[in-house]
Amino acid sequence: MDSEAETQMDYQAVTETQRATWASGDFHEIARQNVVMAEALCEAADPHAGESVLDVGCGSGTAALVAARRYCEVAGIDYVPALIDRAKQRAAAEGLEVEFRVEDAQALPFADASFDVVLSIYGVQFAPDQTKAASELLRVCRPGGRIALASPMPEGWSGDFFTTHSRYLPPPPGVESPLRWGTEESLAELLADGIRSIVSDPRPALQYYRSVDHAVEIFSRYFGPTIRAAEAAGTDSQQRLREDLGAVFARYNRATDGTAVVENTYLLALATRS
Ligand SMILES: C[S@@+](CC[C@H](N)C(=O)[O-])C[C@H]1O[C@@H](n2cnc3c(N)ncnc32)[C@H](O)[C@@H]1O
Repeated sequence: MDSEAETQMDYQAVTETQRATWASGDFHEIARQNVVMAEALCEAADPHAGESVLDVGCGSGTAALVAARRYCEVAGIDYVPALIDRAKQRAAAEGLEVEFRVEDAQALPFADASFDVVLSIYGVQFAPDQTKAASELLRVCRPGGRIALASPMPEGWSGDFFTTHSRYLPPPPGVESPLRWGTEESLAELLADGIRSIVSDPRPALQYYRSVDHAVEIFSRYFGPTIRAAEAAGTDSQQRLREDLGAVFARYNRATDGTAVVENTYLLALATRS
């Protein structure tokens, strides 16, 4: 087997492991915290009624639904079937039409230049083959179209949070961190071949919980990567993982009334397809 084929196989294996990880929780229970990013992305990319919009790694449809409320023609893909089912239920409950499909961000099932706008909130960033995932975003976006991304930054809550997980469940060797999408330099590198301009800006997004302990409870119960990190930690270290995560939430907590208002800083990037 040549080394290219080996690498290809590794990406497939990592993708399957990651899919199982995301399927092990229920990200819908956390997605409410991302609505603020979905609104900001749509404000930045500004899809107008009738424009075609794709939400990549859509989970239960957070950004797709915001675009659909603008009377856009929307599709959303995610590789976890249960989240796509939930996205369909949410669209139906609101009387919105969205084409939700179970697909991999690294192999989008759409023709070249199919969309005016491509969005992703903490979604495409998790694909192990970042070069392929970035090229897929570019391929399906029409010339002059917009790609708007909300990405986890190495600094602040996201970096702290994901780095804490890595101490318990190290990432597969050779796979780049999702935090790479959260620096303007790396992002420009990932999209370099297909854009005529890019602007990016760190933005705050507040997450609201009943308390820091409640935040830890929500992630321990519903966030696939936390569930997997706890399994990897084993019984002896699970309490330490919870304490470490509590310390991360506490570091970014702005509330002084016993509840938690956790400030996450993410990178909002808007690229124009060449
Ligand atoms: C942090 S959640 C964000 C979900 C959604 N964008 C939101 O903001 O509510 C990450 C999502 O990306 C999805 N995902 C990760 N890697 C993916 C891939 N390679 N292809 C499709 N979906 C992927 C996961 O299943 C999960 O739903």
